[in-house]
Amino acid sequence: VERTLTILKPDCVRKNLIGEVTRRIQEAGFRIVAMKMTRLTKDTAGGFYAVHKERPFFDELVEFMSSGPCVPMILEKENAIKDFREFIGATDPSEAEEGTIRADFADSVGENIIHGSDSVENGKKEAAYFFSEAEVVANKA
Ligand code: GTP
Ligand code: MG
Repeated sequence: VERTLTILKPDCVRKNLIGEVTRRIQEAGFRIVAMKMTRLTKDTAGGFYAVHKERPFFDELVEFMSSGPCVPMILEKENAIKDFREFIGATDPSEAEEGTIRADFADSVGENIIHGSDSVENGKKEAAYFFSEAEVVANKA
């Protein structure tokens, strides 16, 4: 079964939406197999989004992702990567489909509530970036 790495971003935490977003994640059939609250340093945030290093918004992204606590999780589901990207909606909330997390809760492309891995390979790398093997638990339906 496939895994994806999500982060409830600092805006999600600030808006008191950890519970609501987590409820929707579970209701949509994703099983949480790892979860923690942490505050990223600029280095950790920059490392996570290293692929965007040359983009004009990189500094803003790093600033935002290190601006407060966030909640990374590893989720399991058949087709977790693709299904989760659909579930959260487009990067820019104004383009996100109705009923998606970003359409419902995000303020802007920069502050868009939640992250989802974009490939199985990146999902594995991102999961390992936040969690050791010992922190991943079996959580079968
Ligand atoms: P993630 O799930 O967070 O990786 O978002 P994504 O895969 O939908 O988008 P992408 O990987 O292209 O961009 C990563 C993150 O950079 C986005 O979630 C945004 O927070 C931020 N970002 C992308 N484009 C812009 C932009 O034009 N301006 C700003 N400020 N941030 C952006
Ligand atoms: Mg991305």
